[in-house]
Amino acid sequence: MREIGALLLVDNLRGRFGLSASRPSLHMCFTGSPGTGKTTLAARMGELLRELGYLRKGQLVSVTRDDLVGQYVGHTAPKTKEVLKRALGGVLLIDEAYYLYRPDNERDYGQEAIEILLQFMEAHRDDLVVILAGYRSRMDVFFQSNPGMASRIGHHIDFPDFSLDELMQIAELMLAREQYLLAPAARDAFREYIGLRMSQPRFANARSMRNAIDRLRLRQARRIVAGAGPIGRDDLIRLTATDVRGSRVFSDTLATPPVATPPSAVRSTGPAAPPSAAPGPAAPPSAALPPAALRPAVPSLATELTG
Ligand SMILES: Nc1ncnc2c1ncn2[C@@H]1O[C@H](COP(=O)(O)OP(=O)(O)OP(=O)(O)O)[C@@H](O)[C@H]1O
Ligand SMILES: [Mg+2]
Repeated sequence: MREIGALLLVDNLRGRFGLSASRPSLHMCFTGSPGTGKTTLAARMGELLRELGYLRKGQLVSVTRDDLVGQYVGHTAPKTKEVLKRALGGVLLIDEAYYLYRPDNERDYGQEAIEILLQFMEAHRDDLVVILAGYRSRMDVFFQSNPGMASRIGHHIDFPDFSLDELMQIAELMLAREQYLLAPAARDAFREYIGLRMSQPRFANARSMRNAIDRLRLRQARRIVAGAGPIGRDDLIRLTATDVRGSRVFSDTLATPPVATPPSAVRSTGPAAPPSAAPGPAAPPSAALPPAALRPAVPSLATELTG
């Protein structure tokens, strides 16, 4: 990414000194798992290329196979051309581009879309940047069967999965932007949450952080509305460990092998329930929570939410 930026900057400078600066090929391929920032970067790329004068408008038009390929004879060309027209002057991002090519079906209309795309990329190479996005392995196969496309894509950028620390940073950045703050105990709980979430099948990197935060806000709201006492600014900003641990991720994990739970805390299979069973896995005592439901602060809303 930095390399492309540097190249464009140097080309730009060369141009200003009257040195030849032929426009480099700017079509790209972004590979990586869901939620690793491909679409986000494609949008930024459009802005950057506009600022540097490589694109007229720099808008992002994001499509998938269904936006390009029709169901019947004669439908594909107008569909693809309409999309290309919208993308002209900016970036066309084709998500999961490999679905355009179906080797098992020779008469698939995807092939027609690819051919129109290639022609257009050639004819408008000065005013359109095409970015193909998707999983690395499938994209490799796609390029092997589509040398015409492979030869026109000059830059390949791999988006690695985020580490736990990076996800934590991203989440805190998102929270700060929205003026929320994790209380210290909530931070620890959220790290634990990410760790558990990362190992689940539908985990989608930064997008999962986005979704986790949305649900966290819901639980905070429910807690505040159900709580007693006046609601201060701090209460509205602060997310507690209880909010975090209310996530299903914790209870789902509890149902599977218990992780390092002291023997005394393991619920026996017998009928007698422990006298004061703590909710959730070893939830740290939360000093900040007022006894719930003494006096709902927003009674009507509280009823609506809890009723
Ligand atoms: N490096 C980052 N820092 C902060 N937020 C990020 C970062 N990368 C992605 N995000 C956020 O994560 C969410 C998903 O990102 P994005 O849509 O760009 O991923 P993607 O790779 O295109 O996913 P998909 O493969 O599913 O299309 C967005 O809300 C975006 O703002
Ligand atoms: Mg995307």
